[in-house]
Amino acid sequence: MKAAVLHEIGGIPHYEDFPDPVAADDEVIIEVKAVAVETVDKRIAAGTHYASRRYTAQLPAIPAFDGVGTLPDGTLVGFGNPRLPYGALAERTVVPRGSWAPIPDGIDPATATVLSTAITAMSARTAAGLVPGETVLVQGATGVAGRLAVKVARLLGAGRIVATGRDDDQLREVKADAVINTAVPDEELTQAYLDARGDGYDVVLDFLWGRPTELLLRALVPRTFAFPRPTRLVQIGESAGAGLTLAAESLRTSGVEIYGAARGLGPETMPEVYGQVVAWAQSGELTFDLVKVPLSDIGTAWQRTGLRGRRLVVVP
Ligand SMILES: NC(=O)c1ccc[n+]([C@@H]2O[C@H](COP(=O)([O-])OP(=O)(O)OC[C@H]3O[C@@H](n4cnc5c(N)ncnc54)[C@H](OP(=O)(O)O)[C@@H]3O)[C@@H](O)[C@H]2O)c1
Repeated sequence: MKAAVLHEIGGIPHYEDFPDPVAADDEVIIEVKAVAVETVDKRIAAGTHYASRRYTAQLPAIPAFDGVGTLPDGTLVGFGNPRLPYGALAERTVVPRGSWAPIPDGIDPATATVLSTAITAMSARTAAGLVPGETVLVQGATGVAGRLAVKVARLLGAGRIVATGRDDDQLREVKADAVINTAVPDEELTQAYLDARGDGYDVVLDFLWGRPTELLLRALVPRTFAFPRPTRLVQIGESAGAGLTLAAESLRTSGVEIYGAARGLGPETMPEVYGQVVAWAQSGELTFDLVKVPLSDIGTAWQRTGLRGRRLVVVP
């Protein structure tokens, strides 16, 4: 079969022949239909992600660990956990029996690859308990996940949305009520967070962490004695850095509560959350900006930049 094959850590996957997977008794062969190429896949291949060691332990290997494809009976499913060195970026892959979930009717394979990204934005409700009318700050709103978060926050009834990014042109494309460019000196950015807050940020969906979120947390410390207004920050991504310095006063006096995006997600809540995202996708209320490329173009697609918030989806 044809596959995107990674020969060395830090290399580019090449379109070439790879032995077809053979399923063991407890495994199933998937015919791959669509795979989203995300930052995490590139970081794993580059050796800069904590999971790199596991996924590149055996080389050559096929990158990407989830996708959408068909079971031997033709059912369209989202699958994960392929048996290494098989990954998703191939005509076929092999997964443990049961490592899949059916894709609902009316959702095409490429769109299905992005549903999980929209689900992370549902953490505004599942982790932070967003109620309609509240103000939401989306940190890192020009990427795929951030742009979807702005749309999802709107659909969840956010009253006011503030979006941050590094590029004014891209920030104009994001349908927010106010925008902040984070590519400015620290004091200017701190002041921008204060100027844009209105009555205060109720929920922050944070795809950045690092410097911008450190400055935000400092900006939320009250300057005068006052009862704090609670701000529920949901940690979802780390595009601006894996760590930050958390000043004690940022928690002591600000009313800030920090949650992980997984809070509130479990077997009871997941079906409702997934169902809501699917319903919005089926009705066209939630749209996904994709760039589809054939598997044979993986070499150039892998290195592609300037996607402006569109998800690269490989269609074998
Ligand atoms: N994809 C998912 O399903 C998913 C789910 C949960 C969490 N996440 C995490 O969320 C984050 C964003 O993912 P994504 O898929 O949206 O990635 P993406 O499309 O590549 O977007 C990255 C975003 O981060 C910004 N950015 C990059 N480096 C930055 C820096 N040093 N300072 C400030 N902003 C910076 C980019 O701004 P420019 O537009 O200016 O380059 C862009 O807005 C990642 O940490 C990812 O692991 C992703």
